[in-house]
Amino acid sequence: MTDHIKPLEGPSVWHGADLLRRTDWIETLAQHEIDEILAAAQAAADTGLDLFDIRKEHFPLPRLAERLAAITRKLEDGPGLLVIRGLPAASMTAAQIRYAYWGIGLHMGIPVSQSGKGELMAQVSDIGVRFGAPGARGFRSNQALPFHTDRCDYVGLLCVRNALSGGWSRIVSSPAVHNEMLRRRPDLAEALYQQFYMSWQGDEAPGSKPYYAAPIFGIRDGLFSLQLGPSYIRVAQEKWPELPRLTASQIEAMTMLQEIAAELELTAPFAIGDIQFLNNHVTMHGRTAFEDDEDPAKRRMLLRLWLSSPIGRPLPREAETLWGAVEPGQPRGGVPAKDGWWRNVLARDRTGRDGTLHLTGEHDQRGEAATS
Ligand SMILES: [Fe+2]
Repeated sequence: MTDHIKPLEGPSVWHGADLLRRTDWIETLAQHEIDEILAAAQAAADTGLDLFDIRKEHFPLPRLAERLAAITRKLEDGPGLLVIRGLPAASMTAAQIRYAYWGIGLHMGIPVSQSGKGELMAQVSDIGVRFGAPGARGFRSNQALPFHTDRCDYVGLLCVRNALSGGWSRIVSSPAVHNEMLRRRPDLAEALYQQFYMSWQGDEAPGSKPYYAAPIFGIRDGLFSLQLGPSYIRVAQEKWPELPRLTASQIEAMTMLQEIAAELELTAPFAIGDIQFLNNHVTMHGRTAFEDDEDPAKRRMLLRLWLSSPIGRPLPREAETLWGAVEPGQPRGGVPAKDGWWRNVLARDRTGRDGTLHLTGEHDQRGEAATS
C-alpha cells in the first residue's frame, strides 16, 4: 500500500552526527568580506533611509555578492543548513548589526513579514511568553521548542548575545526523518502525507476561515517539502470540534516524527555573530530551553529574518493557502501583516523600534500573532 512512497535522496538527507564531522556548511567570512559588509552597512546608513527602506542597490557587495548567491544555492541544493561565521557583532553597534544583517538578507532573498505587526527583523528573546498559551509565539519565550518549520523559505538567525546556559539550536534533516520513518513504519509515513488542520492563530486573511488544511509531508515535481507547526494542529483540534479528528495513525506519526528528529538532530551552540540560515522545506528546527541573565541588556538575543527565496522550489498545491504562492521563485510565505498588508514584502516595520537591542516591553506581550 505504501510502495509508492520512496526514500528521498541527495545532499538534503543527512544525520546530525555526520554533519558535525563536516565543515562544508560553515561559511567563514574572510577579513576583506567583513570589511565589505561593514562598508556597505555604513553606505546604507548614510543614505538616511530607514533600515527597512534599504534595498539591495543601497547595499553594494561587489565581491561578496557572488558568494552569497552561491550560499543561497547551497541552501536550496545542499544540506539546507548553513552558518555564516565571522561577523564581529561583539564590537558592532546595534545599528551596524541591523544594517549589515538586513543587507546580507537582501542578497539572499526577499524579507517577508514575521507577524501580524509586519515585523521584518524579529528579536528572538524571552519576554515571558509561554509557548502553548492562546496565540503565543515560541520565539518570545525561554522554553524548549519542539521541532517545527517556519512559514518562509529560509529563516536566518543572527546571534547578538547568548544565554547564560542553554538555548542551543536543534536542527534536523526533514528528508532524513522521512526516510527513517518510512523504514520503520511506512504506514505512519503515509499518514503524514494526509491533510492536517491547523489554526491560523489569528493570522488569517480578513473573511477567511481561522484554520487551514495542509499535509506535513509533500512532494511536487520530485522535490520534497515538510511543513509542521505542532501547536497549530493541537489548537485547531481543541478549538473547532467540527473539524475532522486526528486519526490514531496521524497522532502516532506526529509523535514518531519528533522522536526520530531527536535521534537524527544536529545540536550546536551559536557563536556571537553567527548567522544560521535554514531552508524550512528540508529542515526542521527547535531549541533547548535556556537560562538567562537577570539584566535585560545581557539576555539572549537573536535577530531573525524570514526570506522568500528567488530560487525556491515548487511546493505542493495544497500549500497555497498558507504560502500564497507555490510556484518556484515567486514571493511567498510570511505571516500576513494586519492593516491591509497581505504578506507585504519589504513593508516597513511599524513596531516603533528604536534600534536598540535591549528589548524590555518592546514587544506586545500578548504575542498576538502566530507561528513559532
Ligand atoms: Fe521557528
